[in-house]
Amino acid sequence: MVLVDSVTRAGESVIAHRRSPEPVGDGAVAAPRTPPGRASTRSRTGTPRLAKFHVPEILFGPGSLSEAAHAAVRLGARRPMLVTDPGLCAAGWPTQLCAHLAEAGLRATVWDGVTPNPKDHEIAAGHVVYREQGCDVIVALGGGSVIDAAKGIALLAGNGGRITDYEGVDRMALPIPPMVMVPSTSGTGADVSQFCIVTDTARNTKITILGRALVPDMSIVDPHLLTTMPDWLNAATGLDALTHGIEAYVSRAHNPLTDHHALQAIALVGEHLERTMDHPSEEAARTCMAQAALEAGLAFTNAILGAAHAMSHQVGGLLDLPHGVINGVLLPHVIRFNAEPDPHRFVPIAQALGLPGRIAPDSTAGAAEAAEWAAEEVRRIADELGVPKGLGEIGVTEADVPVLSTMTLADACLSTNPREADQADIEALFRTAL
Ligand SMILES: [Fe+2]
Repeated sequence: MVLVDSVTRAGESVIAHRRSPEPVGDGAVAAPRTPPGRASTRSRTGTPRLAKFHVPEILFGPGSLSEAAHAAVRLGARRPMLVTDPGLCAAGWPTQLCAHLAEAGLRATVWDGVTPNPKDHEIAAGHVVYREQGCDVIVALGGGSVIDAAKGIALLAGNGGRITDYEGVDRMALPIPPMVMVPSTSGTGADVSQFCIVTDTARNTKITILGRALVPDMSIVDPHLLTTMPDWLNAATGLDALTHGIEAYVSRAHNPLTDHHALQAIALVGEHLERTMDHPSEEAARTCMAQAALEAGLAFTNAILGAAHAMSHQVGGLLDLPHGVINGVLLPHVIRFNAEPDPHRFVPIAQALGLPGRIAPDSTAGAAEAAEWAAEEVRRIADELGVPKGLGEIGVTEADVPVLSTMTLADACLSTNPREADQADIEALFRTAL
């Protein structure tokens, strides 16, 4: 059994899980399948399971942005650095936050040099500003790209070097500055996660940096901020949240604590994402999507992810496309691939998405039908949101498949995919998704 390692150190856990001969669903931290998907805190032998759950302090609710300044003060800020992007500046939220910081006696250094899929050189430039201005606390207001860039700056502030030096798990040795994260999209989960995803511009890929130190000190989730998202970003980040929930639920590193949040996130996205597209100013649906993104983040930062993300990172690094859109294309294919040898974990996922009727708990045929229904439902949602049918429509070619597949095999997220996948499997998945 690999109980403690699997929940204490993500990197060790994923290796341990990959080496485990135990079938998925019966692993050390996985729950028995009776009833489907309802994990218990005891193993089949009655031994209490161990589960560790990383989480920042969270403040959730409309209007909570005003608390960000107090959070910074509590964390010792004298000269906070506010990381954001030009789109958010145009929407006015950083100005509002700076006013709150000023009320608390803090003058922020505002830096908005981040682009989508944040680049290694942008993080280096932000770090120069952090040091030159003598900053001491990082406050990020933005989507996943802004928050990942802020984490990268914090990492360099504490540890030096280049951001690409830290690819992998727990590669940073020294403490990093306190971080307050204010997400402006409903999907990435970066505000609660131990992930930092950065584009390595030398290799045209996205690298995954993973570590407990990257879990922010505070996440402030204000659904009001979601109302200024463009529709395409709402769609993309909502699909990202759905992918986080589904991949976390079937991950080899899932546990009873992550299962609850994963299923709740899946259900909330299934019920509310399309409504936010049709009624963008409706606060109730926005608040539900903010909760979905938060719970998906809580699930995946602890359970890690799977093949859809491992593949998506490579496509995103190659073509600088919205991460959630790529996930939306890939996810139905990855569901089918993962469900083929054992579809049972996909029954609760299908039910969370609204599968009509009942599935007998031990029916493999029924579970397979449920998994296929879930794959089709994800594709239906993607269609409703205007997501392309295949990767070919967004610029991936057959010639890209071998190198994308090779790089996928090196992505940390693949290690927790419930089904082993080799080069041929990943190439076949990419070709199916073209
Ligand atoms: Fe994601």
